[in-house]
Amino acid sequence: MKVSVSPGHNINGTLILPLFEGSEAVPESHEAGLHTSLKAQINRILQDGDFKGKLKSTMSIFGGEGGKAMLVGLGKEDEADVHSYRKAGAAVIAGRKKVHGTDLTVGFSGSSIELMGAFTEGMLLRDYSYDHYKKQDEEDKESELDVRITCDEGQEDELSSAVNIHAGVASGVHLSRDLGNCPPNDMYPEAFADQAWEWAKQYDDVEVTIINYDQAVKAGMGGLVAVGMGSARKPCMVIFELNGKKTGRCPLLVGKGITFDTGGISLKPGANMDEMKYDMGGSATVFGTMQALASTGHKGKVVAITCMAENMPSSNALRPGDVITSLSGKTIEILNTDAEGRLVLSDGLWKAGEFDPEYIIDFATLTGACVVALGHEATGLWSNDDDFRTRIHDAGNAVDELAWPMPLLPAFEKEMTNSKIADTRNLGAGRWGGANTAAAFLKQFVPNRNYEKDGEQITWAHMDIAGTYWGAKTNSMVGNGATGIHVRTIYHLITNG
Ligand code: BES
Ligand code: ZN
Ligand code: ZN
Repeated sequence: MKVSVSPGHNINGTLILPLFEGSEAVPESHEAGLHTSLKAQINRILQDGDFKGKLKSTMSIFGGEGGKAMLVGLGKEDEADVHSYRKAGAAVIAGRKKVHGTDLTVGFSGSSIELMGAFTEGMLLRDYSYDHYKKQDEEDKESELDVRITCDEGQEDELSSAVNIHAGVASGVHLSRDLGNCPPNDMYPEAFADQAWEWAKQYDDVEVTIINYDQAVKAGMGGLVAVGMGSARKPCMVIFELNGKKTGRCPLLVGKGITFDTGGISLKPGANMDEMKYDMGGSATVFGTMQALASTGHKGKVVAITCMAENMPSSNALRPGDVITSLSGKTIEILNTDAEGRLVLSDGLWKAGEFDPEYIIDFATLTGACVVALGHEATGLWSNDDDFRTRIHDAGNAVDELAWPMPLLPAFEKEMTNSKIADTRNLGAGRWGGANTAAAFLKQFVPNRNYEKDGEQITWAHMDIAGTYWGAKTNSMVGNGATGIHVRTIYHLITNG
């Protein structure tokens, strides 16, 4: 989608007219440039109460001599905020059909930069479909949307820069979705690494390092190796550095990247197993966030680590009963090979300590238990620092991506460290609190500052996106498939928070 911004009211293609609940006529400020017959038609619709302006509702008008239009509801005026404008923008794209054409003009006047920006952001985010694998006839292929936002005289420069930032961030969200939606026969650990490598070439200030299977074995990445060794597609770790030469502490993101999770020897049931292609959603989130930051020219240093593996059953797969040694040196008793995300993350979190980061946030489609707890409405959020957890929760609220605080209790840590034969165990004693025990397990692998034995643990948060990375029907920023959640949250946290 191409977006341009300009004052003035001439309309290219279909007019998109955002209206508050209870609007009885086209606002005077919108009248300029509006064909009299289209205006009369819209006024008639509003007077008859046929379009009420409810948030996210749309009504299309075709066939008149005044051109085509789509009315879109902004909801109640006194409740208007960036969230309602973003949702209304997304509703335009969701409700758009071929007859609307590819040229759209959004008629704003008297609106703030922030609200117009949010409306555009909603359009950008929702303008996504994954059809790389569909054979399409040339004539069915649609050209890119060309959207013009009309604003008041003098607003154009500021609105343009806001729109450019939204477009850069949306490109990160779309990248995260592309990675997640890609079928697992094409999205395997090395394919992800290759894509990251190719992607980095376009930016001078980005570097990608790939730790391949042999190097991972040599380095002692026992968790990553254990999970990936059962697959012909070997595991790897990918490290992204933005402005890596800058000194000082920086945010560090870690992502679970299981490109397909069969469960391994503790094989999953067959129903919906195809959805386990999304089990690399954590790695997609951090890759997408790096794209959002790099494409908008973020000047600070940010590092990301993705732990890529395919969890397969085979004669050389990890077994329940095995004891492995993670990069940290701690041993892990494997009680269920389907609890594999925490194993690859144990190495990613430990590796993060090498960068002496300001904080670490990991993203993972970690547990079905988190979906039981929070449904598809919120990500589970744990942290070893209450203030930091609140900052992430606030950043999520600011962009309408809910992350709900969950408890990191000593009892859960005890449960995950009471193996009879190893330092830790990868399964809780029972099935209760499964999302919390998983978080408590991860905490065992968050290093202290400079790896000092009695030092302070690095500030860390864990985000379980098992319920929010896909299948969230109430997320109106996306039609189906991967949501690309939390690229915007973390972009907001890093750039504003
Ligand atoms: N990738 C799954 C978690 C998952 C399940 C995400 C359903 C989204 C939807 C993870 O690797 C897993 O299998 N976890 C197990 C852990 C259990 C064996 C302790 C689970 O949640 O059942
Ligand atoms: Zn699993
Ligand atoms: Zn998994």
